[in-house]
Amino acid sequence: MSRAQGVALSGGVAAAAAGLTLPAARSAPCSVPLRPAAEVVARATARAAHGPLILISRSGALRALAQLRAALPGVSVHYAVKACAENPLLAALAEAGCGFELASAGELPALAGVDVAPERLLCGNPVRAAAQTDALHAAGVRLFAVDSAEEVARTARAAPGARLLLRVAVPGVPSAEGRGAAPDAGPVSPSAAGSDAMAEPAWWPMRDTFGAAPEDVAAIVAAASDHQMDIAGACFHVGSQCTEPAAWVRGAHAAAAALQAARAAGHSANVLSLGGGFPVVLEGTCGPLTAGGTADHGDASPPAGPTGETPTVEAIGTALAPALAALPTGVQLLAEPGRYIVASAGVLLTRVTATRSHRGARWLQLDCGLHNGLIESARGLPYRIRPLRGSGARVVWRIAGPSCDGADVLPGEWLLPAGTAEGDWLAIDGAAAYAQSRASRFNGLPLPVTRVVD
Ligand SMILES: Cc1ncc(COP(=O)(O)O)c(C=O)c1O
Repeated sequence: MSRAQGVALSGGVAAAAAGLTLPAARSAPCSVPLRPAAEVVARATARAAHGPLILISRSGALRALAQLRAALPGVSVHYAVKACAENPLLAALAEAGCGFELASAGELPALAGVDVAPERLLCGNPVRAAAQTDALHAAGVRLFAVDSAEEVARTARAAPGARLLLRVAVPGVPSAEGRGAAPDAGPVSPSAAGSDAMAEPAWWPMRDTFGAAPEDVAAIVAAASDHQMDIAGACFHVGSQCTEPAAWVRGAHAAAAALQAARAAGHSANVLSLGGGFPVVLEGTCGPLTAGGTADHGDASPPAGPTGETPTVEAIGTALAPALAALPTGVQLLAEPGRYIVASAGVLLTRVTATRSHRGARWLQLDCGLHNGLIESARGLPYRIRPLRGSGARVVWRIAGPSCDGADVLPGEWLLPAGTAEGDWLAIDGAAAYAQSRASRFNGLPLPVTRVVD
């Protein structure tokens, strides 16, 4: 940016043999149509230095963008930079007409040299330090999410003249048979405890943290009026890797109600952002095995995530269409996808650093783990792991990351070739989004290197 203001940012595997069960939706062979081609992966791994490697296919990302646009006609896409802030990826998306969703001013340097006008930027983080709002405002950002009267006041002070997107909570539906109960033990979560437990539609939930409840919308609208800030529209986020199309429909209805309340108070309220959450569809038999029937190798069970098949963006678009058609004419629709674009078009490549037998189980240690790229495994995100070289019949492995942290273990058990050995590369599909941006150098271990390839 910035043209307008010149701001200087510029398999059919032997699972059955082991008495193990595979998730029902994961029985098709691996298909990775948007990810970098095998030759590109082979070239990149041949000359890779130490540490994990993330390859994002530029053409794959643009095809994912095109799929999303076709599924959601008329929706203006604002890519969520947090999912992968690689400058060449952002440049390609901007050239294809994308705007960007930012969480903080710290993401602005990633847009250096990218040809995007500030009008195509928005800040979707609804609770910010004033200094962040101030820096984003100074860079030309004029659209900020809020979900409380307090944030309206903070934004009014730090970003006078900016416009607001009122973020609403996505209503839940009661959990059936405990589905959606907290996957992990820990502090009691109101939505997960007791009889009012809500089904969780996303692998990476947001419902408990962000979004105004219906009863709070009036106070936020009133605060905006008091501070003479226009509510430009409403937004929501169903949670990341959301597998329930109806969640977007519930979000759209809640946002439409907020638009109506804001319009009644004299605000322009003519934007509706559908947020992110669009799920990458991963197929194949190379996902984690379910725990049923396994030997006692300790707690290998993946945390419980949403159940059922992963919907396509087309299915989400179809489910949403009636709710969007019922909006008042002239409402501008936005979406803020991150994962769908990057995880569909990317692959995380990691090397086996050690193999060992331990308490009756075979273990692989990888150079990428919970702390340096695979933090989303903590929620049991359903990655798919493919060996880059076949080496015999498949057997059950447990997989650990490179740190000496006992939590640095991929949930579940994995069917990989019996001959898997030190130095072998594994490709992890579904892991490219958020891997680089969330990685740390815990234990002094290398961060992933991300390359945008053709
Ligand atoms: C406000 C907002 N928009 C968009 C996204 C992108 O979500 P996803 O990567 O699931 O599409 C996020 C993710 O945290 C977000 O917080």
